[in-house]
Parts: sequence; structure tokens; C-alpha cells
Amino acid sequence: MGQATGMKLEEAIHFADRVNRISVSPTMAVMQEAERFKARGADVVDFGPGEPDFPTPDHIKRAAIKALEENRTKYTATPGIAPLRQAICEWHAAQLGSSYEPAECIVTVGGKHAVFNSVCSLISAGDEVVVPAPYWVSYPDMVKYAGGKTVPVATHEKDGFCPRAEQIENAITPRTRMVIINSPSNPTGAVIPRDEFAAILDVCQRHGCWLLSDECYSHFSYGDARPYSIASVPDSKDRVIIAGSFSKTFAMTGWRLGYALAPSPLIGAITKLQSQSVSNPTSIAQYAGLEAMRGPMDSVAVMLAEYARRRQRIVAGLRAIPGVTCTAPQGAFYVFPNVSAHLNSDMPNDMALAKQLLEREHVAVVPGEAFGGPGHVRISYATSMERIEEGLRRISRFFGGGK
Ligand SMILES: Cc1ncc(COP(=O)(O)O)c(C=O)c1O
Repeated sequence: MGQATGMKLEEAIHFADRVNRISVSPTMAVMQEAERFKARGADVVDFGPGEPDFPTPDHIKRAAIKALEENRTKYTATPGIAPLRQAICEWHAAQLGSSYEPAECIVTVGGKHAVFNSVCSLISAGDEVVVPAPYWVSYPDMVKYAGGKTVPVATHEKDGFCPRAEQIENAITPRTRMVIINSPSNPTGAVIPRDEFAAILDVCQRHGCWLLSDECYSHFSYGDARPYSIASVPDSKDRVIIAGSFSKTFAMTGWRLGYALAPSPLIGAITKLQSQSVSNPTSIAQYAGLEAMRGPMDSVAVMLAEYARRRQRIVAGLRAIPGVTCTAPQGAFYVFPNVSAHLNSDMPNDMALAKQLLEREHVAVVPGEAFGGPGHVRISYATSMERIEEGLRRISRFFGGGK
């Protein structure tokens, strides 16, 4: 302890550079702050969490109980149990038009882990990763952890936050190893039109970069848009990595189950990494996942219909507030309103705005800055209609527009 005297404990510990380079997910930080208010008895309208407010469907829960009763509680193969890898390939083919074999599939501890493993397997010091902004908060930190550099490509409200292939191409340099695309997007809800997505793939193929497609929200798109995977494009597989998740589609956030689909040598590298870290995803969760892949999909349609109703209400409610503009999200369950007209010397940025909104009105939102989208906030509408109404009332009052 002598060394720690007169120094902060953190300084004395001397963490590894790779950990010093990253920070705690800002969405987690907002959730923690909201929890503090709740612990003091405040009635917080929590628009922070990016998780379905629906329970995991019964047939999936029953499969987990059965797995427990049958003592399927031991280590599994590192890339996951064989029937699940097979079932993921079949489900992805049926739902999203791909053609993967089990050797091209690994089961991971959530979709986040699929992205993390892919980034850590491919990105070395000095490599560049092109990411449209606003982006999911974790991409830049994962790239930093691996020693790489994120090159953001700005997208705009007027284009529905859709990146264009030309912009991606302009950001590519000889150091670019990967492009990460998330459609439907967290935080903007943007869904990339199929021809634009194909053009982005073409850019990646011509420049010899990986296209990592994060399909976490694949089954939540509105209107005419159907679930779509870039892996359905013929001859795409050599350059494409699919990161998939059970979390949102099947309301299974806590089970921690996801997958990666990629050329088998890359799956081999990811398996090596996984074998030296988590060993395998939880056995019981894998049996639940097997049921999710093979069982009925009715619950997904029910959730989508409810999200669609909430989306309509929240977009209308936000647009009714003077000085707030809001693009209608095409997918996922977030809105990303522009609040920059309300920034002033007391509230100079979206971080300060989110802080004051929580303190004064007990409404939790995530500052846009965290997603590379300053001047905005992210609101998750994965919460009940009644809480949405209450939240809208408070946000409107906060901006001086309502009772
Ligand atoms: C864009 C995106 N990708 C991946 C994930 C990770 O999901 P999980 O690790 O729960 O499967 C999330 C979670 O919020 C997300 O928003």
C-alpha cells in the first residue's frame, strides 16, 4: 500500500494501455445516474435502456428449464453446440436469404461479443475502421481497444441519417481494414436502402476491406421494409461478417446470446480467441436459443406492431415541441431528435441538456454526443405507451412548450 500513499488508488494500480484507451459505455453511465434518482424515490421516466420491455417468449423459457432439468449444465464446444450452429444457419437462410454452413458460424456471448471478437481478430495497431456517424457507442471503443482508429463518416438528418457508398469510399485509405454498418441503426433508426447497401459492399470488395454488418435490429423495421441481410447478395460472403443477436428479436437481452457468420478461417480465429476468454456461451442459454431459432416467430410480430404504434406517437409528440426536429426512424426502437435549437449558455451541449432533463423533470435520455451525433439525444421507446405519454409531457414542459 506504501506506493498508494498520497496517490489516488487508480493511479497506483497502473492499468494496461488497452483498458486506459476505452471508457465505460455512456448508455450504462446514464442508466446508473437514472438508478441513483430512482433509489432516492424519484419517479423517473427512463428512455435510456436499449432493451425490449417484453418478456422472453414462454416457449424459449421452457426450453431453458428443460435444459436445466436434463443437466445440460456443462461446458459446450467453444463455438457453440452443433445443433444451434446449424439452426442459426438455417434460420438466417430462411429469414434473411443467406447460405452459411455451421463451419462459418460461431455462437457468442451476445451480439456485442460477436462484434468485439471480430474487431479483435482483424484490427491491429494503426488499422482504420470506417463507421457512419451517429454510431452505436461501442464501436469506437472496441476499435480503440484493438489499437485501431475509427474514421467516422457523418450522416445527416435531412438524408434520414443514411450513409452513402460514395462517402464511405471517400473515407477509405490504404490503412482501412473494415467498414461497420448497422442497419437498422442504433441510435438513429436509419435503414440503408438495399441498392445503397449493395454499393457499400461493392466499395469494400474493390478496396479489400471487411464489411461488418451488425444485424442486431434486423427484425424491427417499419412500413414496407422487410428484414434484409447484405449476406443475401450473391458472392458477398468473402468480405462480409454478420454480427447477430438474440437480444432484441427474441427479447433475450439478459441471456447473452449472439452469433457471427463469416468465412470459416475467420470463424477459426474467433474461436481461438473465444477459447482463451469465455470458453463458450452459457449452455442453458444455447438450448433456449435453439428453441428461438426453430420455434414460432409470432412474438416478434407482436413486438414490432407495438413498437410501430409507439414510434408514431413519440415522433408526433416530439415534432409538436417548438425547436425540436425529429426524423422518423425506419427501424429499431429509438428516436434521435435534434435539440440543438434549445442549447444556450446554461445548457451548452446535449450532455448538459440530458443532465438537466434528468434533474429537473426526471426523464432519462442518452446524449447524442456519445453516439457521435452532438445536438441530439437518443430516446428509446422500448417502454410502455403510458410512460411515453408522461415522458412527452415532461420533455415538452422542459423545453417551455407545455403544462
Ligand atoms: C447496434 C447494436 N449492436 C449490438 C448490440 C448488442 O446486443 P447484445 O450484445 O445484447 O446481443 C446492441 C445493443 O444494444 C446494439 O444496439
